[in-house]
Amino acid sequence: MKWLAVLAGEDLELALEELRSVCLSESSEFSVVNKVGRVILFKTDEIRFSRLAYVREVSRYLDESSIDSLSFSINGLEGSFAVRPYIVEGESEDKRSKLAEKIGSSLDITSRSVDLNNPEHVFRAFKIGGKIILGKRVFLNEGGSFESRRSHLRPFSSPVSLHPRLARCLVNLTRADGFGSDSGNVSLVVDPFCGTGGILVEAGLMGFKVQGSDISAEMVEGSKRNLGFYGVEDYDVVKSDAFKFLSSIEGKVSGVVTDLPYGKSSLKELEAEEMVGRLLDLSKSICSNRIVFVLNRPEVCGLSADFSVYVHKSLSRYIYVVNPQDV
Ligand SMILES: C[S@@+](CC[C@H](N)C(=O)[O-])C[C@H]1O[C@@H](n2cnc3c(N)ncnc32)[C@H](O)[C@@H]1O
Repeated sequence: MKWLAVLAGEDLELALEELRSVCLSESSEFSVVNKVGRVILFKTDEIRFSRLAYVREVSRYLDESSIDSLSFSINGLEGSFAVRPYIVEGESEDKRSKLAEKIGSSLDITSRSVDLNNPEHVFRAFKIGGKIILGKRVFLNEGGSFESRRSHLRPFSSPVSLHPRLARCLVNLTRADGFGSDSGNVSLVVDPFCGTGGILVEAGLMGFKVQGSDISAEMVEGSKRNLGFYGVEDYDVVKSDAFKFLSSIEGKVSGVVTDLPYGKSSLKELEAEEMVGRLLDLSKSICSNRIVFVLNRPEVCGLSADFSVYVHKSLSRYIYVVNPQDV
């Protein structure tokens, strides 16, 4: 099946890796057919696109046509619709509505009921490779739910918290699978340095079972309050040293994802090397998918960060995505 995604955020490589990871966690297929700026034409099965953090919208591919002689055939769709061409930066609104009209009149569709305000179907048109590709939008990420979970809006907050959108993306990068499965065999995601529970909340909201630890009793109590507040029920958070917690895990976990201590408790080089070395060593035998961690330095234990996220002038966070087989 073909789909069209519009990537969001500043780092398009990070957004594309999140999309790839989510697709590969639920389907055996992911391939990019074409890519123009933020727009990706790709193949995968029908998956839960609503999990995505850094993808603005996804449309199911319907048909394509040459720009010069527009003609689209759309089968089996009834109900009202609106055509909304995707415009790239610099293109005018006027150009967009003219293109929308042209496309609208070239559709071979059962329904002819156009509703620009509240349509049942939104058709998106993208200019890719000298053609217009038409899709039906299936997911729109307006970001509101992430904003509503920002640190200062939670019952327990701390400046160490990650933005919920980034926390969600980190969980997705693990490629953890099997959440909300019909067999009742829900997989587990763990965060051994869980702080206020921001990563656990995002994983829990996606339907994973979550477990975490923190050395601070205040953080443990706070993350439990936050998890409860957002309705996550299947969790366990303990006051423990991260490495004791990881050693106590029996069986496999679907993903290990964590944000290592930084800032005031900033790790000195040796401490960071040791901490990451132990994290990887203990995680590699229990993690079935990826180990994802965030650190305040671009290199550690012979690894270079896969992505960096600018926080403010004196702080960037570096994201590492590690395959347990490579440790
Ligand atoms: C950067 S914060 C995590 C923030 C978290 N991602 C959030 O969204 O709130 C790192 C956490 O590691 C905890 N920590 C430091 N050393 C630890 C250790 N040895 N074991 C477990 N937790 C530890 C700190 O108490 C702190 O809450």
